[in-house]
Amino acid sequence: MARLEGKVILITGAASGIGKATAETVRREGAIVAAADLAAIEGLGKDDSAYSLDVSNESQTEDVIAQIIDRYGQIDGLATCAGVSVEGSVTQFELDNWHRALAINLTGTMLSCRAVVPHMVRQKSGAIVTVSSIYGMTGGPGNTPYNVTKGGVLQLTRSLAADFGSCGVRVNSVSPGYIETPMTGMLAHAGAMRDAFVAMHLLQRAGQPEEVGNVIRFLLSDDASFVTGANIPVDGGFSAAQVIRV
Ligand SMILES: NC(=O)c1ccc[n+]([C@@H]2O[C@H](COP(=O)([O-])OP(=O)(O)OC[C@H]3O[C@@H](n4cnc5c(N)ncnc54)[C@H](O)[C@@H]3O)[C@@H](O)[C@H]2O)c1
Repeated sequence: MARLEGKVILITGAASGIGKATAETVRREGAIVAAADLAAIEGLGKDDSAYSLDVSNESQTEDVIAQIIDRYGQIDGLATCAGVSVEGSVTQFELDNWHRALAINLTGTMLSCRAVVPHMVRQKSGAIVTVSSIYGMTGGPGNTPYNVTKGGVLQLTRSLAADFGSCGVRVNSVSPGYIETPMTGMLAHAGAMRDAFVAMHLLQRAGQPEEVGNVIRFLLSDDASFVTGANIPVDGGFSAAQVIRV
């Protein structure tokens, strides 16, 4: 039997990159995908559904969850893949951009979790996977708003795991390294800069979105039934060691 047969899984940011790949991988394991994004979503399966959603908007988020419950009567999984990259050191970014990063990456993740948790508690089961980053685990230059939101996502994840583990709800994170998606598209043309970044990954290559989707799928499934509050780096070894290459 497929690992996610009949499970209803909400994926935010499902129109592109890691969210889109996650939708494909969980669908292959029998899940019904409720796909949400600001952008148009393509490639839905027979029982899937799509929702136009700005994850930073609380009432829209609650409305989408209500529609999912109306339609399927259950929500078994959530993968919070919606996110934006906001660059700059503290002396560079505009305050509006700081607020935008927090609103989408951190508050948006919290709002999706907050809207699904009561249903999972009622069901006495559910699995949530949040998407942090290598830059949620370590510092990095020139991306302060993004890095702060991703560190926050890790603490949000542990806090949710602590609060709802006794109710049968598991909450984990993945922390991707450099994954080739539209978000990192500008790096593809960055020459020596891209090469140096790739070299910081022990596997000496960039990752593909489905390689993150596969780990999210594992964490959503009963194969991870005793895993909660964990963060799995999906980073080709970036966070494991610093290797000097000469
Ligand atoms: N690509 C990488 O190297 C990498 C590394 C670490 C972490 N991540 C994280 O993975 C997640 C997915 O990134 P990706 O690389 O697939 O990027 P992507 O740009 O391909 O996809 C992000 C999706 O989120 C959607 N989105 C943005 N703002 C939204 C909002 N307010 N409401 C709803 N949807 C919204 C976009 O429309 C898009 O479809 C992000 O949280 C990102 O920070 C990516």
